[in-house]
Amino acid sequence: MAQTDLRTNIPDFATGSLAGDGPAPASREAISTGSLPGPERVKQALGDAYRRYRDLDEGKVADYIPSLARVDPSLFGLSVCSVEGLTASVGDVTHEFSIQSISKVFVFALVCQELGHLAVSRRVGVNNTGLPFNSVMAIELADGQPRNPLVNAGAITTTSLVPGSTPDAKWAFIKDGLSRFAGRPLDIDEEVYASEAATNQRNMAIARLLQSYGRLDTDPIETTDVYTKQCSLLLSTEDLAVMAATLADGGVNPVTHQKVVDPSVCRDTLAVMAASGLYEFSGDWLFEVGMPGKSGVSGGIITVAPGKGGLATFSPPLDPAGNSVRGQRAARYVAHAIGLDLFASKPIDA
Ligand code: DON
Repeated sequence: MAQTDLRTNIPDFATGSLAGDGPAPASREAISTGSLPGPERVKQALGDAYRRYRDLDEGKVADYIPSLARVDPSLFGLSVCSVEGLTASVGDVTHEFSIQSISKVFVFALVCQELGHLAVSRRVGVNNTGLPFNSVMAIELADGQPRNPLVNAGAITTTSLVPGSTPDAKWAFIKDGLSRFAGRPLDIDEEVYASEAATNQRNMAIARLLQSYGRLDTDPIETTDVYTKQCSLLLSTEDLAVMAATLADGGVNPVTHQKVVDPSVCRDTLAVMAASGLYEFSGDWLFEVGMPGKSGVSGGIITVAPGKGGLATFSPPLDPAGNSVRGQRAARYVAHAIGLDLFASKPIDA
């Protein structure tokens, strides 16, 4: 019988913008132990990644929220914050944009801190849907379970679990909590909020569907409104790096030295990010970058190297799942250049 070459007819399931792009361009020598290399080497890696990808012309700016469509697609910034509170940045790192889905990570952490590991994993779930972030089918397929806190259904459910008996009280809790992660008072982008509030019928439908399955204890429309506000918080790439570094530092903000959440909550949050932070392309991301990450449709991505620091990138053009194309490439470059990939090791006697 003729031998079948098993490699010749493999369907291409890997379809993210990192898939099929060849091996990482930077050295894999550095491994994920110890601390970040010195500031000069970090700055060099950020500069190299910036120059390498600033002219990359792939992806499409999000336009389903009208005000996001007006952004300059050439904006590009990279920022690292270490657990010692040292920062290194390149590009448009002070430009402010709405946090969008990256807020889901921090609201999840705050809710985890209040309700604990078991309650959130039971109420929300921690598994990847394999489907787009705003999928209704994912809810139906799971008998009404939101599946994970990083898709819209799970994020709306998480927001419903925020302490506070009124939407205003919940919103105040979220705004204060995310500001503590950033180390400065954050405020809403009123234009983005108004634009999304006028067009978020799908999220309201998701919330109503969750309610119909008995999965939401709060008013679905009010809860969607609080969720829309949290997505509209305005910040910079530098702010996001500090927020990511807080997750790398066991829940203590390395700039303000204020404790925001417990180390165990950071650990749970990073696990959820690793599984679902880049939606249906989370496997591609983990395979290529090797760290927990989270993207947002305005173009931000955070990446966390536990015990070392946080990396934030901003570039608006997105891949089909809603993840920044330049941001993913730059994060992969930096991760491998300065030894952040959690899965990299060397034989002990090499
Ligand atoms: O709910 C939405 O659709 C937006 N406020 C957030 C979506 C988002 O950022 C998805 N991320 N890639």
